[in-house]
Amino acid sequence: MADTVSAPGTGAAPGTAIVTGAARGMGLAIARRLAQQGHHVALVDVLADEVKASAEALRGEGLKASGFAVDLANEADLCALPQRLGPLFETVSVLVNNAAISPKRDGRCVPAAEIELAQWEAVLRVNLTAPFRLIQLCLPPMRARRWGRVVNIASRAGRSPGGVAAADYVTTKSGLLGLTRAFAKEIAGDGVTVNAIAPGRIETPMTRGSTPEVLAGVLSTIPVGRFGQPEEIAALVAFLAGGESGFITGATFDVNGGVLMI
Ligand SMILES: NC(=O)c1ccc[n+]([C@@H]2O[C@H](COP(=O)([O-])OP(=O)(O)OC[C@H]3O[C@@H](n4cnc5c(N)ncnc54)[C@H](O)[C@@H]3O)[C@@H](O)[C@H]2O)c1
Repeated sequence: MADTVSAPGTGAAPGTAIVTGAARGMGLAIARRLAQQGHHVALVDVLADEVKASAEALRGEGLKASGFAVDLANEADLCALPQRLGPLFETVSVLVNNAAISPKRDGRCVPAAEIELAQWEAVLRVNLTAPFRLIQLCLPPMRARRWGRVVNIASRAGRSPGGVAAADYVTTKSGLLGLTRAFAKEIAGDGVTVNAIAPGRIETPMTRGSTPEVLAGVLSTIPVGRFGQPEEIAALVAFLAGGESGFITGATFDVNGGVLMI
C-alpha cells in the first residue's frame, strides 16, 4: 500500500523552500543546501540588506534564490508573505523555521527571575508564534500538492535546560518540539511531515554573542571536542526535506557532539 508521506512521484520534485532567519548563520547554510537540491529558496529575515545580499550571493553561485525582508514578530508582516512571494508561494513544498532570538545581557543569560515581560513576549513571538503561523500559512499549498516538509530548528536547550540559554529561549524551544509533534500527528495523512532538529553549540553569529569565558566553558562539555558547523545542520535539513524521509514525522534529531544522549 502506498505511504502517503513518501509515495513516489507525488511532489518530491523541487518546489519553493522557505527558510526563515536565512540572512546569515545556519539559515543561510540551510538555504544554500536546499537551493543546491534544486529548490527555489525564499530567504526570509528581518535584516533587510543582509537577506537581499545573501540571496544575491546564492544567485551568483547559479542557484535560485530570492530575499524577503520580513519581521516575523510582526503579524501583518508575516501574513503578507504569501502575497509577496506570489507564484512562488503556490509551489511551497518546504518550510524551515530557523529564525530565533536569544537575548543576552553583557553576553550572559538573564536569570529567569529577572526577565522582563517585554523580552519574554518578544522571544515567544519570534521563536514560537512565528513558526506556528508560518506552518498554518504553508499548509494550503502543501496540502494541494499532497507533499510537504516542515523542519523546525529547536535547540538542545529545549531538550534539557543547562548551557547558556535563558528561560525564555528554553521555553520556546521546548514548545517548538510540542508544536512539531502536534502538527505532525494532525497532517501526516496529507503527505506533510513535520520534524525538529535540536542543535547543540554551532558556530554562528548567534554564538558570538557569548563571552569567551562562556564559550570555553561550553566547549569543555562537548565530547567530540569542537563546536558544530552550520553545514552539518543543513545536511540533516536537506535529508528531512527530501524524498527519502517520508516515514519520519514528529521526530526530534539531536545534533550536539554528544552533549546530550537520550
Ligand atoms: N548557533 C547555535 O549554537 C544554536 C544552537 C541551538 C539552536 N540554534 C538555533 O538555530 C537557529 C539559527 O541560529 P543561528 O545561530 O544561525 O542564529 P543567528 O542569530 O546567526 O541567525 C538567526 C537569524 O534569525 C533572524 N531573525 C531574528 N529575529 C527575526 C525576526 N523577528 N524576523 C525575521 N528574522 C529574524 C536574524 O536576523 C538572523 O539572521 C535558531 O533557531 C537558533 O535558536 C542555534
